[in-house]
Amino acid sequence: MTRILMVCLGNICRSPIAHGILESKLPSDHFYVDSAGTAAYHVGNKPDHRSINVANSHGVDISAQKARQFKISDFDEFDYIYAMDASNYSNIIGLARNNNDIGKVKLFLEENPSISNKNVPDPYYGDLNEFEYVFDLIDETSNLIAHNLLSTKL
Ligand code: 4NP
Repeated sequence: MTRILMVCLGNICRSPIAHGILESKLPSDHFYVDSAGTAAYHVGNKPDHRSINVANSHGVDISAQKARQFKISDFDEFDYIYAMDASNYSNIIGLARNNNDIGKVKLFLEENPSISNKNVPDPYYGDLNEFEYVFDLIDETSNLIAHNLLSTKL
């Protein structure tokens, strides 16, 4: 089983979308996908209704997800930890215990060579267009990640 964790700040806007999309592209008998936030503000909450609606309009159901905070044991539980932006990346690296932990953490958009800005924008204070843009960016990048995982880990 290969285990992949998506991480943003609140775990209610970006990482739930990334979690739902990547999960939908991989067989569940070989891959486990989860998400978390570096902050605790929204622990226990469902994803933001705008994330739920945009994902739903593309056939991805994220409504059953519940926000949780990233924890140090996630370094042991996961093989790949993807940060949605540089600030989340620094927060995760700040919790790393050793080089093995650090080696698991990557900026999500590092997997997408056609995107030069490596930060998935935080859509929390934005409008629906921003959520739609974030969905498309994550979907395109998840296709690349899924392709790589399916060719190396199956
Ligand atoms: P996320 O978006 O990190 O993509 O889940 C945010 C959600 C909530 C807040 C910030 C970003 N907040 O400040 O409460």
